[in-house]
Amino acid sequence: MTFWQPELERYPGPRYKAIAAAVAEDISGGTLQPGDRLPTHRQLAEALGVTVGTVTRGYAEAERQGLVGGRVGSGTYVLGDGDGHRVPFGIPAEAPTDGDVNFGLALPVPARRESMLADALRRLADDPAALHDTLSYQPEAGLRRHRDTLRDWLADWGVALAGDEVLLTLGGLHAVHLALQVLARPGETVATEALTYPGLIAAARQQHLDLQPVALDDEGMIPSALARLCEQRAVRAVYCVPNQNNPTTACMSEERRRELAAVARRYGVFFIEDEVHLVDGSERPPNLVDLAPERVLYVTSCSKILAGGLRVGILRAPGHLVRPLEDALRSHCWMAPPLNAELACRWITSGLAREIADWQRRAIGERQALAADRLAGHTFRAQPYGFNLWLHLPEPWRAGSFVTACASEGVHVKSGEPFAVGHQPVPEAIRLALSAPASLDDVRRGLDVVRGLLEHGPRPPSTL
Ligand SMILES: Cc1ncc(COP(=O)(O)O)c(C=O)c1O
Repeated sequence: MTFWQPELERYPGPRYKAIAAAVAEDISGGTLQPGDRLPTHRQLAEALGVTVGTVTRGYAEAERQGLVGGRVGSGTYVLGDGDGHRVPFGIPAEAPTDGDVNFGLALPVPARRESMLADALRRLADDPAALHDTLSYQPEAGLRRHRDTLRDWLADWGVALAGDEVLLTLGGLHAVHLALQVLARPGETVATEALTYPGLIAAARQQHLDLQPVALDDEGMIPSALARLCEQRAVRAVYCVPNQNNPTTACMSEERRRELAAVARRYGVFFIEDEVHLVDGSERPPNLVDLAPERVLYVTSCSKILAGGLRVGILRAPGHLVRPLEDALRSHCWMAPPLNAELACRWITSGLAREIADWQRRAIGERQALAADRLAGHTFRAQPYGFNLWLHLPEPWRAGSFVTACASEGVHVKSGEPFAVGHQPVPEAIRLALSAPASLDDVRRGLDVVRGLLEHGPRPPSTL
């Protein structure tokens, strides 16, 4: 690569943000390639006529967005898919810049959970028997009373599971990993919606599975496309998110679910049904696990309602798979920490979990209504109480440059890239996680930036 020298004037906002925006744009335009070394801070500062501190902040911002990485003593490098990542997806090491609006990560609506945790810990401190339980090794699937409490809690959400089939895991993603591990061996085929949760893509890669995309429409996975794949290959497992596909927010109708259950039975494949984004039972068609319990492993967690840091996940499997799952759990971590499940269960039995869920539902409903108003006239899909909104971009916008343009105005959104399986074409659309920003005002501010960009269109390209 020749000396990289961006034209900062092309980007609005502070100079350091312009540097990060230029890195992002040049990666999506191909000028910067994975592994390229960026100029040193001093070289770039001299070339651009800015201070070294500005370049340092600019590179730090690009690193926070997962675009570049530093190697001690050897400079700053462009990250890419060399080590298996198409586009970085994860929690940035650095806190977002003050004043930025984060629509990037599907986090629960911020609430004062700290005081609730403090209260639960104080009560636990006065309960020697429970303290003893949390300090002891327990059966792989978790303490019986924790499993029962979580099973009853799920029943309140309209998910009826038998207690013996429920295992506690280190969050929903861990449950997905375990399910994949017992269903498929390295090299074997697992199918999923062509746009899917990036954690599943990462898990399949870690386990060296052959992950195959299945076409999706407004209702998610298309059964005839899955059946075709099953004709062509020995599909060991199918992962899908019937309620609120991530990122497209598509929800399956009852008919669609019945068709998929029929495909599962016809080809003898197991489904991993992911419902980490729990939806009130009164509002949705039956789960796949209700329709074909002998073929479905069901995954959920406390992350999106209570707190992601608790890492309390729930995996339900048909009876004959429980033993292999317990073996897998033991080999990973013996069991999920009982302390975390104890805290989650205390929030549940005290009624606090329901209060948080109801409050969050109202807050999300308000945010979705605001988005529907602010984005009126544009094409998007969202569920009234869903975390995300999937916004189709009008021409000539492309998703990569839209993400960059938003970032240069301090608004963080995701394109479809991290969700795409294989070389499937990725729609020119972005995912807005409406739940993540700190306040309704931040949501409003972020939506106004998004709407402004939609209406003004992109800057003309500057490449020769
Ligand atoms: C569809 C889906 N499944 C699983 C997870 C991970 O859940 P957990 O934090 O409990 O591991 C997420 C998190 O965003 C998700 O969107």
